Amino acid sequence: MIVVMGATGHTGRIITETLLKAGETVRALGRSAERLAPLQELGAEVLAGDAGSATYLVKAFHGADRAYTLLPPDPQSIDFRAEQDRVGEAIVRAVKDSGVRHVVFLSSVGADQKQGTGPIAGLHAQEERLRHLDGTHVLSLRAAFFFENFQATLPLIKHQGINGGAIAPNLPVPMIASRDIAEVAAKALHTRSWNGRVVHELLGERDLTHTEATQILGARIGKPDLKYVQFPYGDYAGALVQAGLSQDMAGLYVEMAKAFNEGRAKSLEGRRPQNTTPTRFEDFADELASAYRAL
Ligand SMILES: NC(=O)c1ccc[n+]([C@@H]2O[C@H](COP(=O)([O-])OP(=O)(O)OC[C@H]3O[C@@H](n4cnc5c(N)ncnc54)[C@H](OP(=O)(O)O)[C@@H]3O)[C@@H](O)[C@H]2O)c1
Repeated sequence: MIVVMGATGHTGRIITETLLKAGETVRALGRSAERLAPLQELGAEVLAGDAGSATYLVKAFHGADRAYTLLPPDPQSIDFRAEQDRVGEAIVRAVKDSGVRHVVFLSSVGADQKQGTGPIAGLHAQEERLRHLDGTHVLSLRAAFFFENFQATLPLIKHQGINGGAIAPNLPVPMIASRDIAEVAAKALHTRSWNGRVVHELLGERDLTHTEATQILGARIGKPDLKYVQFPYGDYAGALVQAGLSQDMAGLYVEMAKAFNEGRAKSLEGRRPQNTTPTRFEDFADELASAYRAL
């Protein structure tokens, strides 16, 4: 049996659906039984609870031999790094208490760095915890910047006619559709395709600058002149807090943007066929355009 954390989220939902189609028995986890219900209808066993609770996760991992794990983001957290540590430790405890011997962990480009990368530093810490698990095969997928991140700036485009953020406009950034990560993770879990501790970058179809991505998106929403504006870090943090993020989370996002801009959060492998995935930003832009029109 395969246990899937974050099964109602971007990657977890597709992993659950793909594994069910492949004939696997899946236990899908999330916070809400209601949001998990569609996966139950597809044949998954579901168990709702808070991943920060080791008691819940130990129960959730019981009887499984493989697991998809992640540290869920909480934009309102007043101490997000502590939250990541709590969930990360609960995962390790649950793996140790169960028969899980193959663990996929959703990590990020930049997770080689111990600090100075905002939320990515929490993924580094979790990679380290998992590395010390004896007798467990751990595949850490260091994913690129999700295409889905642009959903957060759609209201800015709608109301102010610009796209914006703290990442430098002309910095090439590896960007990926989360569904491509899900496909790799599901295949690895289904086939148990790795041994020992493996780190694998997933860099999307190509690197894109925020200016290029904004142009592609602008053309799809009838704004061919849409511009990407880089905000000063302080203004960016203020805008995130206004949008409902905690001060702590806003500070971590600024730190992450700096890490990209200063070249500390970057691919170590370099682009290769093995870390390049199929979905183009152009293929995804229609989803963003639909979400934009629905605003
Ligand atoms: N965005 C990026 O560019 C990027 C790049 C690399 C890595 N990552 C990493 O990707 C991860 C997020 O993955 P994702 O996008 O697939 O997930 P997601 O869409 O953000 O969804 C989060 C999932 O976790 C569940 N969840 C949230 N809080 C929880 C809690 N306290 N206890 C139990 N479950 C909880 C949610 O369930 P409900 O909401 O239904 O309760 C949902 O299923 C993060 O660790 C992030 O660092 C992101």
